[in-house]
Amino acid sequence: TDNYAVIGNPISHSKSPLIHSEFARQTEQDMAYTAIEVPLDGFTNSLKQLRDVLKLRGINITVPFKEQAWQQIENKSERAMRAGAINTILFNRDGSMYGENTDGIGLCQDLTVNHAVSLKDKRILLLGAGGAARGVVEPILAYQPEALFIANRTASKAEQLATIFAELGTVRGGGFDDITAQFDVVINATAASLQGDVPPLPDNLLADNACCYDMMYSDNDTAFITWAKNHGAAKAIDGLGMLVEQAAEAFRLWRGIKPATNHVIDMIKNNDS
Ligand code: ATR
Repeated sequence: TDNYAVIGNPISHSKSPLIHSEFARQTEQDMAYTAIEVPLDGFTNSLKQLRDVLKLRGINITVPFKEQAWQQIENKSERAMRAGAINTILFNRDGSMYGENTDGIGLCQDLTVNHAVSLKDKRILLLGAGGAARGVVEPILAYQPEALFIANRTASKAEQLATIFAELGTVRGGGFDDITAQFDVVINATAASLQGDVPPLPDNLLADNACCYDMMYSDNDTAFITWAKNHGAAKAIDGLGMLVEQAAEAFRLWRGIKPATNHVIDMIKNNDS
């Protein structure tokens, strides 16, 4: 049996063990997956222990360790390099580690495949410029949207982010005040939802047939999902699908096989309701 884990702090509410156990069952992989809480100041030590003592084959990393993981792991994908964060580590048999970030692929899979929302030639607004936002910019630009605007409470952070990704597509950054156009797809990557807040957005933000996506996931509508429904969004989608899709990409990196995701998404929805 190969062992895997998700590490974070706190970690008790993580759905990753459920998701990966279901993937393993479905694909008949001989593996086990648990959740491990790591002390806030103990990431580096824990990483070595997980590899050398628990002999894990791979881990997922969640809040607040994704940026630290990025700093620790030299050998990482180009995508992870740009994302500035790592959410998946592969422990090779020779003890070396490989870092990847599957968050952005997970988001784009959920949008384009599960919800049939096209990104190509679309006007896309990304709210937030922290780690969560940065992780999804490159995968979004890979779909060649007409333009991506990154809006953040601290405008300079959004401008910086736009600069980092400028060579990959039409991307600009600014403050919420700088949002003047209408958008086809609006993605919330701010932590505002956690506090039940929505960034200050213009009332006429959404184009016809617009889609709003909250990377946050909660059993009830998040503040941003409520905002979207009240402002005429054709679709208002929360981050459950992204959670399952990023897990599926991590699973594929580890096991070389891509699990089906739809029934896992449904299973969690039904568990929660
Ligand atoms: P994460 O890894 O979740 O992105 P982060 O790096 O701390 O966490 O970034 C949090 C993001 O949410 C930032 O874009 C932050 O805006 P600032 O850069 O201006 O701080 C945004 N954010 C947090 N609380 C917010 C609120 N109440 N309203 C609007 N934006 C908020």
